[in-house]
This record gives sequence, structure tokens and C-alpha cells, in this order.
Amino acid sequence: MNVLARALAAAVALRAARRGASGGPAPDGPPGPEHRTAGASPAATRLVAVLLVLTGCAGAAVGVLLALHASTQLLGLAAALAFVLLAVALAVASFRIVPQETAVEDRPPVTDPQTRAALTETVRAGGDGVSRRALLGGAAGVAGAGLATAAAAPLAALGPRPGGRLGESRWTTGVPLVDEHGAPIRADALEVGAFLTAFPHGADPRELGSPVVVVRLRPEDVSLPPGRRAWAPQGLLAYSKICTHAGCAVALFRYPLNEETSTSPALVCPCHYSTFDPARAAKVTFGPAGRPLPQLPLRIAPDGTLQAAGPLSGPVGPAWWGVGHS
Ligand code: FES
Repeated sequence: MNVLARALAAAVALRAARRGASGGPAPDGPPGPEHRTAGASPAATRLVAVLLVLTGCAGAAVGVLLALHASTQLLGLAAALAFVLLAVALAVASFRIVPQETAVEDRPPVTDPQTRAALTETVRAGGDGVSRRALLGGAAGVAGAGLATAAAAPLAALGPRPGGRLGESRWTTGVPLVDEHGAPIRADALEVGAFLTAFPHGADPRELGSPVVVVRLRPEDVSLPPGRRAWAPQGLLAYSKICTHAGCAVALFRYPLNEETSTSPALVCPCHYSTFDPARAAKVTFGPAGRPLPQLPLRIAPDGTLQAAGPLSGPVGPAWWGVGHS
């Protein structure tokens, strides 16, 4: 331990002797003058400012493209470009603008007051390291606004489009059900266990409120609420094809072939496996959907074709703040 303490004391003494030999300030003397070397350059400052402004433009482009209903690929490209430009700007700023080195060296005393004041100012400005703060601040503001736009724009896509027709459909009393070719659907074309997609005659089949799934169950298996008893003539039932979870197409119909081991018939959305019971007004029996599929009341026309006996029982599509879970 004594050896260690002596070695430490010797090292401290040697360091003090070297300082004295090099003319440096004594540990208890007045501090010597300082020089600071900073990495800022006007060209780098301008480059960073331009990159930040471009970042803001790319971010704002995300909002513009979203408003123009541009492709998802373009949206992603604009967002990626904004982040790449921001990354490059930050890299250039960190290497070329932010001071990289602080060096202290001894200087002969400056006795002239004016020279001393000028030197002090030079040292202070050099230590600052960042010139054109206002320019960089403004450019950073543009970048921030653009990125905020890019981040907030997708929020506008949540819920129904303002003025959109998410909850509307062409189904009213007497509208014939037709297939994808526009041909009327006959009631006797569906056997028990059958499943098909139908559209309102004369309507755009691409509208969310258009497609319905039609299934046929045994009438004795159907158990609808009291107000819907007449909605399923001969066990024929129709529901909106648009899943009430996230709007995928309800494309699967499970019908038991071995009744002793199978579960009851089910309409299934393949996206997240929301499962609806067609015999009980499309009640949700499994999965994330928050409410049943809207039901379309059916009737059989004198010529044997299927018609709507009224509008859909509720709004079509995913639940949102205006559509409660039921
Ligand atoms: S969209 Fe149908 S389960 Fe998610």
C-alpha cells in the first residue's frame, strides 16, 4: 500500500514539474487564454438548412398525396424520403456544425486592452460553433411542420370519410337481388347450406353498402329476434358482406356436414376470423368484430326471385364513434 501511495505521489509531482517546464499556468495561478476550434462552416450550415427544408416538403407531400388519394407506395416513398433527408441533415449537422473539438493552449499575455477585447470576442464566437442560428431554426421549423403533417395525416383516414356514404346503401323495399352478372337470384337456386353474394339491382356493386351474403338454413334452425321473424322466408337469410371489424369481405360460410360433431353454421371473415351466427341475426360468436352484420330483410317475389323487404338493419362496415356496439 505504501508503495502504491508513493508511486501516486511521484506521478502527481512529475505532472506538476512538466507543466512548470512547459510554461503553463501554475495550478493556483490565473488561467491562461483559450482558443477553441469549432467545426461550423457556412457551407455546411446552408446544406443542413436546405436538407431540413426538403424534409419539411417531403413530410408535407405525405398529407397532399393522402388528400389526392395517391397510391400507398407513393405515400410510403414520400414518408421515407422525409426521414432519409432528416437523417442526412442531422448527420451533416453533427459532423460539420456542432463543435467537434475544444483545445486549450498557452498564449503570451496580451496587455493591449483593445487587442484583448477583440481576442475575447473571437474566442467567444468560435466557441459558439453554430453560425446562422436563425436560418437553421427556421429550417428546423419547416422540417418539424412537415413531419408533423406526415404523422397526423393518417389520422384523417380513421373512421368514415367526411361526407362519405359509409352507412348508406341502395337496399330498399322491393329491390331485386342480383348476382355479379346482374341476373336475378331465384329462391329455389339456393339449397340448404348454400352461400352466395348478391347485389342490389341497378346499383354500383363496388359501393360498400351493396354486397350481401345470402345463405339458406333449415327454417327450424333460424332464431331471429321477434321483430325479424318474417325476414327469412324459407330459411333464406341475407347479411351485409362487409365485416363489422375492419371492413374485409365476409367470404366464408361454414355449414356443418356432420351435425353430431360440428358447430352451428357460421359466416366467417378470413381477415381476423370474426365469426357470425347467421341463424341468430349474425350475432358475433368469435373474433374481434364488435357488432353483428347488418341484416337485409328478404321476401320472395311472385316470380320466385328474391327481393329486399326493407333496408339493411344498420350501418354497414366497421364500428366507429357514431355506430355503437350492439
Ligand atoms: S376485418 Fe373481419 S375480422 Fe377483421
